[in-house]
Amino acid sequence: MKIEIPRECERLGAVQIYGLQKVYELDSGGNSGRADTSHNDVIRSIPSEALYERQKDMAIVVPVKNERLKLIEGVLVGIPHPCQIIVVSNSPRGPVDRFHIEKEAITNFCKFTNKKVLVVHQKDAAIAKAIEMAGYGELLGEDGLVRSGKAEGMIMGTLLARWLNNKYIGFVDSDNYFPGAVHEYVQEYAAGFEMFDTKSTFVRISWNSKPKVMENSLFFAKWGRSSVHSNKTLNLLLSHFSGYETEVVKTGNAGEHALTVDLALNLEYASGYAVETHHYVNIIESWGGILPPNEEIVHRDKVTICQIESRNPHLHESKGDEHVEDMIDASLSVIYNSPLCPELLKREIAEDRALRMRLEKPEGIAPVRVYSNLSNLKLDTFLEHCEAAFSSESESLSLV
Ligand code: GDD
Ligand code: MG
Repeated sequence: MKIEIPRECERLGAVQIYGLQKVYELDSGGNSGRADTSHNDVIRSIPSEALYERQKDMAIVVPVKNERLKLIEGVLVGIPHPCQIIVVSNSPRGPVDRFHIEKEAITNFCKFTNKKVLVVHQKDAAIAKAIEMAGYGELLGEDGLVRSGKAEGMIMGTLLARWLNNKYIGFVDSDNYFPGAVHEYVQEYAAGFEMFDTKSTFVRISWNSKPKVMENSLFFAKWGRSSVHSNKTLNLLLSHFSGYETEVVKTGNAGEHALTVDLALNLEYASGYAVETHHYVNIIESWGGILPPNEEIVHRDKVTICQIESRNPHLHESKGDEHVEDMIDASLSVIYNSPLCPELLKREIAEDRALRMRLEKPEGIAPVRVYSNLSNLKLDTFLEHCEAAFSSESESLSLV
C-alpha cells in the first residue's frame, strides 16, 4: 500500500492525533520483484507481506444484529485470510432463530475458505458468567446476560480477541454492501499499525465518500450527518485546550476502526452508538494531561491516533433519520458530560441541539451509560472461565 505520511499532528499530554492520511495505491507490490519498496519523504510504500504479517496478529470483530445474510457473507469475504474473524451476533433467537441461520451460513463460508470463525451470541450465558466472575457485572442486564447494543458486542469481541491471543483488534460493520471496501479497511488497519508501531496505536477510517441517490442520480457525499457534529465538537474541545483552532479530527464516530488489544483493554466504553466518540474523549481524559492522573489507569508513553481516508465508497443499510438523530445525541452526550468539557462548549452544544431539534430553549443532554475502564475486569479470571465456557460446547459459542 502506498500511503502519505500525516501532514499535521495535534499533541495533548501523551496523546498524539495525526491528520488524515490519503492512500495512493491500495497495493504497491510485495518485497520481491519489481515492487517499489522505497520510502521517500512524504509517501510510505508498505509491502503486502508487511500488511499480512500484521494481520496474522489481528482479530476482526463483526457485530451483527438482524442483517441480511448476503450482506454478512459479503463482509466475511472481504476480510483478508490471515485475520481471525469473530462474529458477535445479537440477532433474535425466536420465533425464528436468526442466529442459527447465521451460524449455518458462516459454517458454509468456512467450508469453502478453510477458515475458523469464532461465532458467539451476545446473550451467551457462559460468557456472561465469565464476565460476572471477573467482576465486570456492570456489562450485564437484569437477566444476567450481556446487555444489547453495538458497544456491548464490541466489548465482548475485544475480550474474545484477547482470549485468542491477538495483538490487534479491528471492527467492521456487517451491513456493508461492498466486500472490496471491507478488504480495504482491514488493509488500512494493518498499514496504520505498520506506520505507528506502538503499544497504544488507534487506527480510524474516514470514508472518502458515501453514495446516495439524489434526484435520480448518484451523489457521493463526503461526510455522514453524525460525523459532522462529532468531528466539529471534538475539534472545539481540542482547540479549547491548545488555544489554536484545529480541524484535525475527521473520525469522531468512525465505526470502522482498529486498535492494539492492550489499549482496548484500558479504555472506557460508552453504550450503543456513543462508543466511538467516547473513545476520543476517554483517551484525552486519561492521557491528555488535563485531568489529575488516575492511579488505576496504566501509564502510557504515548497514545497514537492515526486517521486514514479510504478510497472505496461506503455503502451500508439505511436505517432511517430517527436513528441518525439518536446517534448524534449519543455522540454529543459523551463530550457534553465529560469533566473535560468547558462551560462555553457545553452552551454551544446545547444551543446547536436546540436548533437541530427545534426545542424552545437550550437544555442539557442526559448522560449515556458508560462502562468503566475495562482494566477493572480481572482478565485472568475471565480467561479461565472463558476456557471452560468453550469446553462446555454451548450452541451459542463456537469456533466453526
Ligand atoms: N452484536 C451487536 N449487538 N451488533 C449490533 C447491535 C447489537 O446490539 N446493534 C447493531 N449492531 C451491528 C449492526 O448489525 C451493524 O453491523 C453494526 O452494528 C452497526 O450498526 P448500524 O445500525 O448499521 O449503525 P450505523 O450504520 O447507523 O452506524 C455505524 O456508523 C457510525 C459512523 O457513521 C456504526 O458503526 C456506528 O457505531 C458509527 O458511529
Ligand atoms: Mg450501518
